[in-house]
Amino acid sequence: MMQDDMILHNIGKLYTFPGEGPVPGTMMDSPSIIEGAAVTVSAGKIHMVAGEPEVWDRTDLMKDAVCIDCKGKCLVPGFVDPHTHLVFAGTREYELPMKLKGATYLDILNAGGGILRTVKDTRAASLEELVEGLDLRLDKMLRYGTTTVEIKSGYGLDRDTEIKLLKTVKASKHPIEKVPTFLGPHAVPPEFRHDPNAFIDLMIDVAREVSGEGLAEFADIFCETGAFDEKQSRRFLSAARDAGLKVKVHSDEIMNLGGTIAGADLGASSADHLLVSDDHDLDAMKEAGTVPVLLPGTLLTIFEQRVPRAREMMDRDLPVAIATDINPNCMVENLQFIMALACYRLKMTPNEILAASTVNAAHAIGRSGRKGRIREGYDADLLVMKDHSFEHVVYNFGVNHVEKVILGGKLLLDNVGW
Ligand code: NIG
Ligand code: FE
Repeated sequence: MMQDDMILHNIGKLYTFPGEGPVPGTMMDSPSIIEGAAVTVSAGKIHMVAGEPEVWDRTDLMKDAVCIDCKGKCLVPGFVDPHTHLVFAGTREYELPMKLKGATYLDILNAGGGILRTVKDTRAASLEELVEGLDLRLDKMLRYGTTTVEIKSGYGLDRDTEIKLLKTVKASKHPIEKVPTFLGPHAVPPEFRHDPNAFIDLMIDVAREVSGEGLAEFADIFCETGAFDEKQSRRFLSAARDAGLKVKVHSDEIMNLGGTIAGADLGASSADHLLVSDDHDLDAMKEAGTVPVLLPGTLLTIFEQRVPRAREMMDRDLPVAIATDINPNCMVENLQFIMALACYRLKMTPNEILAASTVNAAHAIGRSGRKGRIREGYDADLLVMKDHSFEHVVYNFGVNHVEKVILGGKLLLDNVGW
């Protein structure tokens, strides 16, 4: 019989979602909320989830097992952040006054700022410096309950630096689970301003190399005016897919160039941003099983008043996910803050937000059989919260509601402050 090395008892409410795979939009408001449960962990995996008396009865606890008294507080799956640009050097606070005076995101990019400024700083940084910056941000994320994170390259825009960025992700020893994405076509670098198609050719070669070396699981492209058009997006993503990478797309953030449909046609795991998506885009995602990943923090930092159509997406049973999109233009590690924005701006309910930042987020990055649920056989990534119910995370926003972080069956953080 399997011995348990951890038990969590005295749990008030345990939140998870029934079934397997993504939770369709109309089911996102209906988590399983189990009262009086206990959970055991064995070798990093969840072993038992049942009523507390039954668990105590059935468990074979190791002598030095960790016993966690949850004190009647709620237990939720570790949060999954499915869209980040975490590897970069430098900062961009200097752009704030420009934005406040009315410069748009694309104005700043066209003037050589924005992504291109970060590319300059990142090309000049060593792998060690990049790992240090990455780990610092991962530490902050872990304190706010993020236990799995997708990480994009994209501030190299040349072969060597893009590879360096993906190697940075591999070199990090941080315990958070990291899912690397090759986002070589993030912007057109100055060297290729007069021939963006040649840059796509180069990035296709790099995608093949990255896939062959096992440096990334996904490929992504920024399909936007000032970045890449629909044709370039299709060409890059289909070549990347043929090279063995799964695909994603940044689409419909500012202009609708057809990137969402291009992604869906190629079986994209997710399409991200989606501010100006139309009905055809939503239908295409539904048909293809593409997860819409919404990024409400980015809307704030580009001073965008409109919001994506989260409710309509959920009404169509799309498995909506949310993410920080942390990048030098949107410096937010705290997914709980994004959850509050999802409520107050996208009008998602706290239960929908929990689905969007656990199980559906896991599905968007190819982890839905292992992350995002409190279920036997899943990874033991668990958060003991400070509250009796999950709603408090969005209700009392701007503070940290996580009390304990368990990742891969290990109690990594305890008594986390507000
Ligand atoms: O997802 N939109 C494209 N890329 C990032 C922003 C990157 C940057 O401004 O540095 C995003 O928002
Ligand atoms: Fe992004």
